Amino acid sequence: MTETSPTNGAPLVDLYTRNGFAGPSAIMVREQYTPTYSRVEGDYTPRRLEAWHSLPEAADPRALPVTILRSPTVRVDVWQRTGDTPFAVRDVHHDQVFYVLDGHARLETDFGVLDLKPMDMVRIPRSVALRLVEVASLHLIIVATANPVNVNPHNEAVLNPAQIDVPRAYENPGGTPGEYELVIRHGEHTTSYFYDYDPLPIIQVSGAPVVQRFSLADVNALSVKGVASPPAQLMDDPTTETLIFYLGARESGRPPVHHNADYDEIGVYAKGPGQLGAVTVPGTAVWVPKGVIHQGPEENVPEGYVAWLIETRANLELTEAGRRIATLAETSEFDVHPTAAEAALVG
Ligand SMILES: [Fe+2]
Repeated sequence: MTETSPTNGAPLVDLYTRNGFAGPSAIMVREQYTPTYSRVEGDYTPRRLEAWHSLPEAADPRALPVTILRSPTVRVDVWQRTGDTPFAVRDVHHDQVFYVLDGHARLETDFGVLDLKPMDMVRIPRSVALRLVEVASLHLIIVATANPVNVNPHNEAVLNPAQIDVPRAYENPGGTPGEYELVIRHGEHTTSYFYDYDPLPIIQVSGAPVVQRFSLADVNALSVKGVASPPAQLMDDPTTETLIFYLGARESGRPPVHHNADYDEIGVYAKGPGQLGAVTVPGTAVWVPKGVIHQGPEENVPEGYVAWLIETRANLELTEAGRRIATLAETSEFDVHPTAAEAALVG
């Protein structure tokens, strides 16, 4: 037993799960507490990603979101903006989920306008153009997926459908005269179209909702008192490649030691005052690649906290930008791993 072992006398079980929270599971009972590891060689490791850090790209007004985790189908990006985007951008390969970590902006899209505030989550399907204006120190975390993402809460108690809104019409649908640039983002490449009118404003839209927004502040946890239970789903895609859950404080048992055979997990700590184990700074994300045994902190935190979880079948890898904000993590309380803390002291 180590000092990070559970102290509540619970049996030391390791849950092996298929298909994330949805599939069959099997239990291994062991004497050892298996999330702890003494050291690691190689790159397939759990990391704390301090996404709240300032990235140098933020100073470039033309900088697109900076990718910190990537696979051929799924990206996790950070986008920090001190000023407005000098163009509209349309990603034609990915649906995107914008999470507002901090700041404010007016999000103008092909489907209308939203005023962004902290804790907003916005679903922006592929091939929808957007730009950011009236930007005030905006800091976004973005999940981009080649598959469509739907806002699809577990039930109405988790998120009341009345709390899901869509953009409003433009105040000035004719736009303002001038030259306008639209950047098409196609994979690693971009192509710019130019117009002598503003191509974004609309008079009205109808049909199925396209851009949708809700606030994590309006989400309720799924709780079964004293028992560890899956978190509440907020978004999914029809192929189940990528799912997004609410992971805020709740009256439940601590998560079991488990390995998630099919999904990488990225937990994003959003707001206190309570802390999520060793995670205290909003914008800290903990990435546990699939198959890496972990437990994760107690979720029954009376002071309360807000967090969310990305699960993806994609095999994510750190980018160079991701590496700059990544630290090796231990997978019990999600603290910096002792060997990384040591290296930082030496370095
Ligand atoms: Fe997990």
